[in-house]
Amino acid sequence: MKTTSIAFIAAAFSSLAAASPIDSRGSKWAEWDNSPFYFTSVYKVVATPDQVINGTTVTPGEPGAIGYYNYGINSELNVICYNITLKGVTGDYQSPARTATHIHQAAKGASGPPRIAFPNPSPVSNDPKVVRRSVGCLTGPFLTGVLSNGVDTGTGFTVKQIEDNPAGFFTDSHTVKYVPGVVRGQLA
Ligand SMILES: *[C@@H]1O[C@H](CO)[C@@H](O)[C@H](O)[C@H]1NC(C)=O
Ligand SMILES: *[C@@H]1O[C@H](CO)[C@@H](O)[C@H](O)[C@H]1NC(C)=O
Repeated sequence: MKTTSIAFIAAAFSSLAAASPIDSRGSKWAEWDNSPFYFTSVYKVVATPDQVINGTTVTPGEPGAIGYYNYGINSELNVICYNITLKGVTGDYQSPARTATHIHQAAKGASGPPRIAFPNPSPVSNDPKVVRRSVGCLTGPFLTGVLSNGVDTGTGFTVKQIEDNPAGFFTDSHTVKYVPGVVRGQLA
């Protein structure tokens, strides 16, 4: 009888031990005690077609598409880590920049230059049209490949500027069919 209950308790503890790292990662993503990464801020942006702007005109992106742009910033080291998932985005990417997935500097409803160009999300499922993902980290100095008065629009940019005013930045991706943006979302 005693042996049985000790075995039961031991079994209960071992299942708790297995579950706890997942729990702490889920609730404290940026502060997870054993994480090799330290973030000074985290952004979870849900980007949608209805937020896409061409100049100052609403120019909807791909119907039914959605983007989950998750960012972790370490502004002390000028590092930005990204985990971007696109669903319902079809066709090739298109942009004059180095890539077609960006953080731009502009408030809601406005347009502005790209400051960071991320590797484009690529297919992760058997159906390449449905889910695309891009994961990694970039460290400044940043280059976008877009010139403004002969100077790259990433020149001099630091991720601290995002932390200072997240509402002044948005993230998006561009495709051949939806050049102004397939989805877009503000960082705040
Ligand atoms: C975006 O605006 C430019 C300049 O007004 C215009 O030439 C272009 O056709 C527009 N693009 C779309 C997709 O509406
Ligand atoms: C990226 O996000 C997706 C969706 O939440 C998740 O399944 C995946 O594990 C994440 N990748 C990394 C490297 O954290």
